Amino acid sequence: MQLRDRIAVVTGAGSGIGRAISHRFAEAGATVIAADLDPQAAEATALLAPDRILPYQVDVRAETSVRALMDSVLARFGRIDILVNNAGIGTTKDIVETELEEWEQVFAVNVRGVFLCCKYALPSMLARRSGVIINIGSVAGLIGIPKRAAYCASKGAVVTLTKQIAIAYVKDGIRCNCICPGTVDTPWVERLVAREPDPLAARRALEARQPMGRLVRPEEVAAAALYLASDEAAAVTGSILVVDGGWLAQ
Ligand SMILES: NC(=O)c1ccc[n+]([C@@H]2O[C@H](COP(=O)([O-])OP(=O)(O)OC[C@H]3O[C@@H](n4cnc5c(N)ncnc54)[C@H](O)[C@@H]3O)[C@@H](O)[C@H]2O)c1
Repeated sequence: MQLRDRIAVVTGAGSGIGRAISHRFAEAGATVIAADLDPQAAEATALLAPDRILPYQVDVRAETSVRALMDSVLARFGRIDILVNNAGIGTTKDIVETELEEWEQVFAVNVRGVFLCCKYALPSMLARRSGVIINIGSVAGLIGIPKRAAYCASKGAVVTLTKQIAIAYVKDGIRCNCICPGTVDTPWVERLVAREPDPLAARRALEARQPMGRLVRPEEVAAAALYLASDEAAAVTGSILVVDGGWLAQ
């Protein structure tokens, strides 16, 4: 029970990686606030461990919504021990094809969302001189990938913001780290390949991109998050933990 009695907020908890992290944290003894734009998805995640996972609807793009989330967690539990900024969206375009509106939307969720969640969770962490933030970046935040202009740029921002938070609050008992997954087998990737003319071939291509020849499982990202959230990682801050089946090792 590495996270016994910890209070954890996970955004984008209704699907894929966020759901796996919520489940793993609950198994490790945490109480998890599973926050998602889609309330039914958050509720489905909560069903995995009804005693420990509480569903919550949030739009990480909206300041009032994020503030209400953090305020209600603090009102009920008195603290936020762990914040996982996992909510994210993507696009599959290069610069020229990307409409300004689409660019802004990707940044609104992937970057503004991380900023707002940190802004409204950090004061209570600072007051207690204790807190862990885990941002879900991506391999796309570390290298250029064709057809991912807005996504790469937004995840690059998440990687750098992680280091800035880590260094800004290193003397205040706060740790902030980033997990950069490769391609993970989630509904997101199912939607991506379903749009291709030959979905099976598209999936095989994504698998082949990673030297292990397979997609990462959401549970494998959750295991990395559990480590970073736990006291085992007490000396780890500002780090980028790549979970990518060897993609970046080539
Ligand atoms: N799947 C991958 O291959 C992969 C790889 C690297 C990084 N990531 C990152 O991991 C995170 C999760 O990805 P996933 O594959 O599980 O995606 P997913 O689409 O399966 O789940 C994302 C969840 O975020 C929620 N969400 C979207 N916008 C939101 C908002 N404004 N406010 C609150 N919640 C919102 C969605 O409702 C959904 O439940 C994302 O940040 C993504 O960029 C995914």
